[in-house]
Amino acid sequence: MKRILSGIQPSGQLHLGNYFGMMQRMIRYQEENDLFCFIVNYHALTTIQDQKKLKKSTIDAACDFLALGLDPEKATFWIQSDVPQVTELTWLLACVTSVGLMERSTSYKDKLAHGITPNMGLFSYPILMAADILCYGSEIVPVGKDQKQHLEISRDIAQRFNRIYGDILVIPEAEVMDDTNLVPGTDGNKMSKSYNNTIPIFADEMTIKKRVMSIQTDSTPVDEPKRTDTPIFKLYSLFLADDTKVELEERFKSSGVKYGEIKGELSDLMIEFFRPFRERRAYLESHQDSVVKILQNGAQKASKVADRYLAKIREAMGLVY
Ligand code: ADP
Ligand code: TRP
Repeated sequence: MKRILSGIQPSGQLHLGNYFGMMQRMIRYQEENDLFCFIVNYHALTTIQDQKKLKKSTIDAACDFLALGLDPEKATFWIQSDVPQVTELTWLLACVTSVGLMERSTSYKDKLAHGITPNMGLFSYPILMAADILCYGSEIVPVGKDQKQHLEISRDIAQRFNRIYGDILVIPEAEVMDDTNLVPGTDGNKMSKSYNNTIPIFADEMTIKKRVMSIQTDSTPVDEPKRTDTPIFKLYSLFLADDTKVELEERFKSSGVKYGEIKGELSDLMIEFFRPFRERRAYLESHQDSVVKILQNGAQKASKVADRYLAKIREAMGLVY
């Protein structure tokens, strides 16, 4: 049983890419691993400075995960800032981290290139992320490709710490998700809220239908075979088991497939697939007290683990008399 840990950005309306690219896999980890999962509201502060917006998106993200099947009995699930020990560890790690390492962060450089005036939080973002990981002795950290360098930075910091202070920190392994499971958007590019090509999973049925209808298709005549390397085929396949996927492939390869009908089937399938999740989401949204309780319990569990690691770290660094 491995400790798998991941931090989740509280980032707005969920789409099929988030679910099939990350959340479904994350939630499956809880079955056979010691899953630690938290909403990274401290990290969000580097860019969101609107109290209401941050609170709402934090709770929304928690409701999303719980509705989609994250089980607080199996996994440890909490809000990052409810275990403030990570901010202490951030300082302790900052003192073994070279400024050069931070300056080489490509995501920081990207933000500068986009004209963002950086605050110190943004500059230190990777150290807080390292603290998130190292505070709980995480062994495996599943991340998208964009976060790969942050993971390397966490490993560098941990190795440097261990060289100075002894073998205290667990060196985490990244599990990088590759492009093969990228979910395409309605225009065929990667589905992303920045490209306005998403199909949101908790939107109302009308919106879902409209978004599905907007999936770009080619102009192959009805009586000719259709290609299967297309967004419509890939999106439809997400909802099929292997054998039914073969059937869909055969339908596409024969003649008579009408894209309009296929899109109708896809929106029905999608709406049915997410119906139980949507109902659970609505329930949680109207019972926020119980959501907060779940998160507080999770924070208590996480806090105990963080305290154990921090005690060792403080001792090793000479902070205990
Ligand atoms: P967006 O691109 O819409 O801003 P985020 O960056 O907030 O999405 O993504 C949150 C998580 O969902 C990430 O872990 C990312 O790996 C996953 N994800 C987002 N879009 C896709 C996609 N199109 N295919 C697969 N995974 C995705
Ligand atoms: N930086 C990550 C992202 O933008 C979120 C994150 C914060 C994280 N702390 C983490 C991911 C620890 C994995 C482990 O997606």
